[in-house]
This record gives sequence, C-alpha cells and structure tokens, in this order.
Amino acid sequence: MSQTKFVSNWKGIGSVPETYVCPPEKRVGVSVKKKIPVIDLATEDRDLLSKKVLDVSQEFGFFQVINHGVSKALVEETMRVSREFHAMSSEDKEMECSKDPNKSCLIYSSTPNYEKEELHLWKDSLRLICYPNLNKNVQFWPQNPPKFREVMEAYLVVMKKFSLEILEVLSEGLGLEKEYFSGGMSNNPEFLVHHYPPCPNPSLTLGLNKHADPTVITILFQDVNGLQFLKDGEWIDVDPLPDAFLVNLGYVFEVISNGKMKAAEHRVVTNTTTSRQSLAYGVYPENNMTIEPSKCFINEANPPHYRTLEFKDFVNKLRSKHPDREMAMKFISFNQPY
Ligand code: OGA
Ligand code: NI
Repeated sequence: MSQTKFVSNWKGIGSVPETYVCPPEKRVGVSVKKKIPVIDLATEDRDLLSKKVLDVSQEFGFFQVINHGVSKALVEETMRVSREFHAMSSEDKEMECSKDPNKSCLIYSSTPNYEKEELHLWKDSLRLICYPNLNKNVQFWPQNPPKFREVMEAYLVVMKKFSLEILEVLSEGLGLEKEYFSGGMSNNPEFLVHHYPPCPNPSLTLGLNKHADPTVITILFQDVNGLQFLKDGEWIDVDPLPDAFLVNLGYVFEVISNGKMKAAEHRVVTNTTTSRQSLAYGVYPENNMTIEPSKCFINEANPPHYRTLEFKDFVNKLRSKHPDREMAMKFISFNQPY
C-alpha cells in the first residue's frame, strides 16, 4: 500500500522524506526566549486596557490574553475531539470531511495545494468554514469522533464573542468606532485545527513557513510550544501560558490602520518528541467588503499607504502564492508596482 499523505498517520518514520526537506535558507536557526506581553481582559479600567492593547499591538503585533471568559473545559474538549479526529485513519478523515457539497469542511496535509507544491509542511490541518450560516454548515461536518459537531459548534460560538470583544478593545484604543469590526468585517471566520506530529529531524523541516495571516486578527490556542514570531530580526519562541490565548494581527488590520500596526510574521517549528496541536480561529471579512485604510489614519502627512481592494481579491492574492511580507506588500500597498 502506498504511504498516506497525512503525516499524522505515518508510523515509525525514521527520517525526513526528501519532499519535506527545506532548502538551507528556510531552515530553522537560532531562536530566543522573550517575555510575550500578557493582556488581562478582566481589567476593569477600560481606558487602561485599550491603551495597553494598543501599545503591545504596535510594538509586537501579537499578545497573550488571560481572563478571557472562554471556559477551560470547552477548550480542553475542543482539543480532545480534535486529537481524536487527527488520530483517525486517513480514509475515515477524508470520508467524514466529504459530506458538505459547499466544502465547509476540508482535511488536507501541508497546504490545500499539496499536489502542486514542491515542498511539503510537516502538518495536517482541518479547516471549518462558519459562514454564511454556522448552524447549516455544522450538519455536514464529521459525525466521528461522536461529539465533534456539538463541541466545534460550541467553541465557534464562544470564539465569535471573544473575538468581537478583543476587536472592540482594539477599536477603542485606535480611536475607531466601537462597532467598526462587528458586522461584515468579522462575519466570515475560518477555523483551522493543525496537527504537527513529532518529526525525526526538526532542523530540516517546518510545520508552517514564515508568513503573516490574511486575517483581521487570529486567535490561537496551542498545547506545546513550536510557534515563533519574528520581531526586530529575531525569532521569538512562544511558550504557552496555561489557559491563555494568543492573538496576532493580520494584514487586514494592518491596512485599516494604514500601517500604524503591522501584521505579525510567524512560523511553526517541529520537535522530535511531542505531537503538537493548535486551534487557529481566523477573523475574516465577508468577501464583498472593501478593505482600505480608515479615514482616521489619513491626513496630509499620512496619505493612504495601501490600495483599496475587495476582500475576495485581497485574500486571493495573498493565498494563492503564500507570499512573504515583501511579496504581500506588492499586492496590497502602494510602495511597490502592482
Ligand atoms: C496559522 C498559524 C500557528 C500554529 O494557522 O496561520 O500560524 O501554531 N498557526 O499552528
Ligand atoms: Ni498564521
């Protein structure tokens, strides 16, 4: 039998197959431990809270959040169901994800472009699309593991509320109206459950290439470390705080703020001993939304630095090539020829 493409289903792999070996310039080098800012969402002084969120967003582009109100039991249950899902056979995973004619549920290894890509990433991912109607989509999602639908739906409902809270605090800090992100700007969330099995040689592989997300923001839960952010030319390891979520700004946020905030570049490295799992909730605008710098950030000294694009064009450009930052800027900013 030929080997399955899902790395989670490989048994006793002793070395890294050639199609997973990164060219030397992409390989993992040195990384550093640094304190990652922590936002306590239960802080009562709202002005202080939005000022702190603004400061850390501007300096880092990512931060951890505690006292977020998402129940620990629900996060654990979502992680458990996700682990059970990725542990199923390749055939069962594909069968369970093939029920929706609109493809709101997709299982893939590496990237959705697996067949065409030259280099594979050391991960499998499950993608769930919530829009336009979560209730409708859920009925086509996997029935195995048995509690999958119920748990995922509960998690996604709670994450929508949590993401809007964070976006409200960010809007207040930036001086945008409080509801700026509440409608079409956040109505199209996507949920990714990534599974990164242990790898015999982490120095040769990557779980995820260096990238920034084409989201407004992304809210991530990770069980063990592996995520690294690029800041001032250094790769910073994110050691997960128990019960904390990690929030990072995406390109949509960068454009709206006219570059006052930058999308945070990050990647995932693999390890030899522990399978790693992450829950990535990406906040996306609806496809027909106009993405452009907000008038709040435009004046004579600061003309718009980014193009006005419909979100569907914006995201197609950024997704089709998995660009690095420089290439992404060619698509979305005025600094480079289009
Ligand atoms: C992503 C991402 C990080 C992780 O889904 O865009 O960066 O830890 N995930 O899985
Ligand atoms: Ni990302």
